[in-house]
Amino acid sequence: MELVLATDAQKAERDRVTHAAWGSPLTVEQFQQREARLRAHPWCREGMRTWLLMDGGRVLASCETLAMDSYLRGPDGAHVKGTSEGIASVFTEEALRGHGYATRLMDLVAARMEAESPAPHSLLLFSDVGAPLYRRSGYHEAPAWDWRLPAAGGLSTHAVDALLCDGDVPLMLEQMRRPDVPFFLWPSAAQVDWHLERERAYAQLLNRPRPEACGAVVGSSCVLWAMMARYDELVVLLMDAGSLEDAVALLEAARGVAHRAGLSKVVIWEEPGTLPWVARVSGAVRVARDGALPMLRPLRPGLPPATRVDFPRALWV
Ligand SMILES: CC(C)(COP(=O)(O)OP(=O)(O)OC[C@H]1O[C@@H](n2cnc3c(N)ncnc32)[C@H](O)[C@@H]1OP(=O)(O)O)[C@@H](O)C(=O)NCCC(=O)NCCS
Repeated sequence: MELVLATDAQKAERDRVTHAAWGSPLTVEQFQQREARLRAHPWCREGMRTWLLMDGGRVLASCETLAMDSYLRGPDGAHVKGTSEGIASVFTEEALRGHGYATRLMDLVAARMEAESPAPHSLLLFSDVGAPLYRRSGYHEAPAWDWRLPAAGGLSTHAVDALLCDGDVPLMLEQMRRPDVPFFLWPSAAQVDWHLERERAYAQLLNRPRPEACGAVVGSSCVLWAMMARYDELVVLLMDAGSLEDAVALLEAARGVAHRAGLSKVVIWEEPGTLPWVARVSGAVRVARDGALPMLRPLRPGLPPATRVDFPRALWV
């Protein structure tokens, strides 16, 4: 068995096969279009790789890696920028499951990453199949809770200073406060735009309008969000609220925008930075997350355990 990088033809063939897991409600052809479009996005062109576990000419399992920025505090107290690799789309065809191929793939990908120079700080993934499979390969999970707010008609966005459009993302991201912790992952503007590219792709393929905004700002507080058309929700990608009042104003704006886009709810991933505010917003309900369990495998000494790392939704791949 060997690990190889997929050719463009092999990627297209994998899209056809993985449609069974991730394609609905798109047709196979639409799913292939979605994948081709996302691969052409600047964030993917820069740091996305498709890996195949091969046995002779046969593909046994596949996955993707996406390079993202992470920051590790050095001995002088300053954060040093490095990368972490997000692992996505781990897939074994049904007839080949249960033979350890996905596990072997995860182990070979990790060994390959560890041998790269410079090696990434960490590997992360968002498991839809629970923790045990990936624990075998050295990943540890972090708790995963969501807060849900119903979309609401009739609410105005008057309490925020402005709604944001795609072009505002780089500046907003620059202004957001980053976590004051030894190690954190922080999305680039291109990584955030990749979520919006998904939104644009689904809006086009499913022939539905995009929400009128991708975030809101009030004072020095800000939120960025994206539509998940398949799940009928607006997801908060990243939020930096300086006060309860700001959090309420930003989330009310999200509820209004979700409603006007025909979505039923707003979903916020629980994080230490958002918890104190979101928990006090009236109507917010806390639920155990279904899927997307954050898991981390450190590749450097000195990295904190997964339970002490923040995983904002903007990092999801
Ligand atoms: C998950 C998946 C990649 C596993 O591939 P595989 O080659 O069979 O994996 P391995 O043989 O290395 O490991 C199999 C283990 O994964 C576990 N697993 C597989 N699917 C699972 C699921 N839906 N929920 C929980 N565990 C699951 C099996 O229980 C098995 O554990 P066991 O050996 O203790 O019985 C494969 O089932 C698949 O492609 N599923 C559809 C796509 C998907 O959900 N991918 C994961 C996204 S995070």
